[in-house]
Amino acid sequence: MKKIAILGLFSCSLMANDFSSEIEQRQDNFQHLDATADQLDDAFDNEVVEWDKIIPLAKSAYLTVQEQKTLFPEGSADNSRARTKIWQQKPEFEEKFTVLAEQFQLLEKAAKNKDEQAAREALSGAYSQCRSCHMSYRSLW
Ligand code: HEC
Repeated sequence: MKKIAILGLFSCSLMANDFSSEIEQRQDNFQHLDATADQLDDAFDNEVVEWDKIIPLAKSAYLTVQEQKTLFPEGSADNSRARTKIWQQKPEFEEKFTVLAEQFQLLEKAAKNKDEQAAREALSGAYSQCRSCHMSYRSLW
């Protein structure tokens, strides 16, 4: 009897689908990416491009984007700005993270080579992924 009650409680908590920790984590990661983008812009805006700052920023942004792919479990739209369309188009959605991660890898490589043109191209390629994903998959409120 006791066993059944415990089992019942356990399955109820599974069914509740509480994704608040994933949502909080992904929103924190996006805030982190936003702050990183500002720091990257600053590093490029200086008279001499600050390659030594750009390299670790690009690397950390790459890792953050990889983690984001794991933080959109199906059904985690409630109480967040993620649109349910994400789970109807999961491959397309994930592809945007993949391309974004690639741009940060290209940026890291260009920074190591001090190749300003390639670095700027990679950064603007990254920003266009942010914008395009928000247009399709982030709700306005
Ligand atoms: C593959 C899609 C996708 C990409 C790429 C993407 N975002 Fe987002 N972003 C979202 C979604 C979806 C949300 C809403 C998440 C939520 O509310 O749980 C969001 C939310 C945010 C938020 C608000 C976080 C908060 O505190 O609620 C910021 C800031 C943000 N993104 C910045 C960025 C930046 C900067 C980039 C590029 C470097 C980026 N995003 C790339 C989909 C994306």
